[in-house]
Amino acid sequence: MSFKITDTVTWVGKIDWELNKFHGDEYSTHKGSSYNSYLIRDEKTVLIDTVWQPFSKEFVSNLKKEINLKEIDYIIMNHSEIDHSGALCDLMREIPDTPIYCTKNGVKVIKGHHHKNWNFVEVKTGDTLNIGKNKLTFIEARMLHWPDTMFTYMSGENILFSNDGFGQHFASELMYNDKVNQADLYTEAMKYYANILNPFNKFVINKINEILSLNLPINMICPSHGIIWRDNPTQIVNKYIEWANSYQENQITIIYDTMWNCTRRMAEAIAAGITAVDKNVEVKLFNCAHRDKNDLITEVFKSKMLLVGSSTINKGILSASAGLLEMIKGLGFTGKKAAAFGSYGWSGESVKILNELLKDSGFEVMNEGIRELWNPDEEALERCIKFGEKLVK
Ligand code: FEO
Repeated sequence: MSFKITDTVTWVGKIDWELNKFHGDEYSTHKGSSYNSYLIRDEKTVLIDTVWQPFSKEFVSNLKKEINLKEIDYIIMNHSEIDHSGALCDLMREIPDTPIYCTKNGVKVIKGHHHKNWNFVEVKTGDTLNIGKNKLTFIEARMLHWPDTMFTYMSGENILFSNDGFGQHFASELMYNDKVNQADLYTEAMKYYANILNPFNKFVINKINEILSLNLPINMICPSHGIIWRDNPTQIVNKYIEWANSYQENQITIIYDTMWNCTRRMAEAIAAGITAVDKNVEVKLFNCAHRDKNDLITEVFKSKMLLVGSSTINKGILSASAGLLEMIKGLGFTGKKAAAFGSYGWSGESVKILNELLKDSGFEVMNEGIRELWNPDEEALERCIKFGEKLVK
């Protein structure tokens, strides 16, 4: 499958309908994904990015139907993670001398993964490549989300090839933002931001400001995953500005991990206390042992306050909550409040441990938390309700 995006640009990527896990087991892709590769045919012929390695041979074979590979003058690798550089070995076997344009770090990453000494051309911000009617300008985008990342801007047709930036794991043959379901599109775009880009908020803000200051006309944003932004394409840029600035909605998320439902009953009582005081805040409860961890991360991203509960087990916390908090710690959330709770039978360390983990993850921990012995009785549940009330008061 390939399709023309403009007179000169053709999408030559791969839609991966089956993908349900990405980055090993670290990212759930409920809606599949795509690896977008773009072929530009001007006076010069340019290929931007490739696809993930399992689709390498299919990619090269399809590309041959589109063009004689020897006609490709330049390959541009905006980012060299394997989902974009995975077809390079099969491609370069056919056209071994074709120059590969990438950042200095891009050379290191490609060599680190593929161990080949191809014809690399290092580029930096502001370097240009005249390809005929259009001109390509390279913009380094370090840490968005790897040190090698760059964007390529094509003046003439005014297209920003942004690689992972503004992307989503969203398989759809509709391919354009004005054609797909908007709720699905934004759910996936936000999940992508929360789970991948949030640690790099400062870089996002700086890079967007830098690009906006150039006053480049942008007719289209072509990311390397998911849907192409062609209808009011800067809407996603504006969303990124919003998301990069300690984003939160009027939401409190309660995540618990429970053995015999004692901590769950505490969670529900705390939620009742919150809603008794604040009728407008949206309170969401999740048992993290039974929920998708990346969806939970997105809920945390949207929240102004996070409550985490776990029973005490073996002087520690339950493993699902421990795993989730390890993910949360790496994502660098800012401007969010938090509190901990949990049931216990004898030693009762879980709340203290949760408090420390939440503090280490950058949350403002509001109090010492609440713990209850064994299965909470009516008095204990009343204390949990009061605890919830206090949090929002
Ligand atoms: Fe889509 Fe960072 O690779």
